[in-house]
Amino acid sequence: MIEPPVRQASRSQRLMAATRAAHDGLDARIISAEPFRDRDSYGRLLRMQYRFHRHIDDLYRMPLPLPPALDLRARRRLDHILCDLDDLGQPLPADEVRPTAQMDAATAIGWLWVAEGSNLGAASLLKRAAALGLDAAFGARHLAGHPEGRARQWKEFTAAVNGLDLDEQDDARVLEGACEAFAHVRMLADDSFA
Ligand code: HEM
Repeated sequence: MIEPPVRQASRSQRLMAATRAAHDGLDARIISAEPFRDRDSYGRLLRMQYRFHRHIDDLYRMPLPLPPALDLRARRRLDHILCDLDDLGQPLPADEVRPTAQMDAATAIGWLWVAEGSNLGAASLLKRAAALGLDAAFGARHLAGHPEGRARQWKEFTAAVNGLDLDEQDDARVLEGACEAFAHVRMLADDSFA
């Protein structure tokens, strides 16, 4: 009997499988901290987001083997977070050392995969933020989707990541980068919501 061809998981599907537990733990950590209880609590989430996006901001400007059409720079969310902090009169968290300058391209792509993916869950967070009088024009700008739609943005990004022709080492580095990014955000969440 002829076996049907085995459809191999895409790189993005493998990344998702490898980071599912980290994501779910982080999701539970954030939601259990009730960041939408009041604006003060939301400020903690905002500071966590600021610290993450400040940490990775340089990656959006790195020369990476991704199609220019992805327009990585336009995907940066740091400026939106800065406006959100300003809207809410929140102080800027202290600047931190950013080790991303020495990061290789494959690891950087793993980190960016996490940042881009986080925009999917942001849809639900944006809805919750409405209860605090916050929206895409005030206080919750960084949670807004792209005008062309979150799903489309994500699909384009993952298609590019899936299409990268990487050797085994670099493929493993993408995965390490994604795991490092989740561990980093978890540390920031634990710190912000302590
Ligand atoms: C910094 C990294 C991330 C953070 C802080 C984060 C946070 C969250 C949170 C808090 C939720 C729950 C929202 C709710 O219950 O209202 C969520 C849901 C979700 N996240 Fe993430 N996430 C991250 C990365 C990712 C990545 C990399 C992906 C994709 C691979 C992803 C995909 C999703 C999806 C699909 C949902 C469910 C959305 C829904 O039910 O509406 N997230 N995320």
